[in-house]
Amino acid sequence: MIVPPGRRAALRRRLLAWYDAGCRALPWRSPQHGADPYRVWLAEVMLQQTQVATVVPYFERFVARFPTLAALAAADDDDVLALWSGLGYYARCRNLLAAARAALARHGGLPPSVEALRALPGFGPYTAGAVASIAFALPAPAVDGNVARVLARIFCVDGEPGAPAVQRGLWALAAELVPEDRPGDFNQALMELGATVCRKPAPACARCPVRSACAAHRAGRAAEIPPPRRRGARRAAVIACALAEVEGALVLVRRAPGGLLGGLWDLPAVEVTGASSGEGTAALRRALRARFGEEAAVGELLAEVERTLTHRDLELRAFRCEVPATFAPREDVRLAAPGALDGIGLSAATRALLAAAGWPARTPDAARERRAGRGDPTRRRRAPA
Ligand code: ADE
Repeated sequence: MIVPPGRRAALRRRLLAWYDAGCRALPWRSPQHGADPYRVWLAEVMLQQTQVATVVPYFERFVARFPTLAALAAADDDDVLALWSGLGYYARCRNLLAAARAALARHGGLPPSVEALRALPGFGPYTAGAVASIAFALPAPAVDGNVARVLARIFCVDGEPGAPAVQRGLWALAAELVPEDRPGDFNQALMELGATVCRKPAPACARCPVRSACAAHRAGRAAEIPPPRRRGARRAAVIACALAEVEGALVLVRRAPGGLLGGLWDLPAVEVTGASSGEGTAALRRALRARFGEEAAVGELLAEVERTLTHRDLELRAFRCEVPATFAPREDVRLAAPGALDGIGLSAATRALLAAAGWPARTPDAARERRAGRGDPTRRRRAPA
């Protein structure tokens, strides 16, 4: 679609005026730091699939610890994962670290070019466009879910925004619209409009600065564009987890790299087929024997939490276990003292499971006694990702 120059100019002018009048003060936009490419990039990676309110405290902690690209590139992988822990989608974090090192080695920093950014690990078209436009003032489009919805409505684009043909059309529109002057602010105005006004189920058209230029609004179709996404069937799984201590320290194992939550530390665990806790204990006993080479004891169920992932509904169950005290910590097995958990990369779901089971307490027995005063120890909780 070719956007008539008058309409293009009106959209740019109104969006930028709206952004200037009320854009949110976010730490990666701080005038103190200017458009620091490292901070812009870090924020964009954290903001993928994650809301601004969740990201802000993680962002602040992250830049306090790793204030520059060079500091991040020199960091220990485990320290970075530990700071990310709880934010979810851990492949983002592993790619972040790989890209920091590659950018430093290849270019001495983040390169001011969409093509060179795209060649770094984890840089898709959105992240490359966002960093190029916001940090380097290059007129590159950046279409995330919010921007896709805004453009689909303004230009009345039917079809699922995720479909390749629709995506191509929306990127072409974004490329036509992004101005030479202030491309980063323009892209962020589109993102911000999508996040705060042109929202998914209930667009607040009365507050929209571009409603008079919006085809869906004019046609009375804003709420029905884009159509709801068809989701594939979700798979349910039960994971039996071992809460085992050696001299008061918790036994943790490292998840295989590359897989779900790869590289994070976790309780020793096994996916259980069938839903009865009896099957959970037998499978867990076998898994512990395979992992530690000796018979392990699997005891009572201490807690359960539920967790929703994109394609799976997980139920995590913690069983009190005893593992052979003779095992030696190694690359993929470690002990964590009660005060040390904060500095270790654990998923938010595992932290929630530990909290539900009452750990850390001095001993599993003490944990049980504490819970006895608090009612049902296996009360279900919903866990964040
Ligand atoms: N979502 C993704 N990137 C964003 C940004 N730079 N500002 C606000 N929301 C965003």
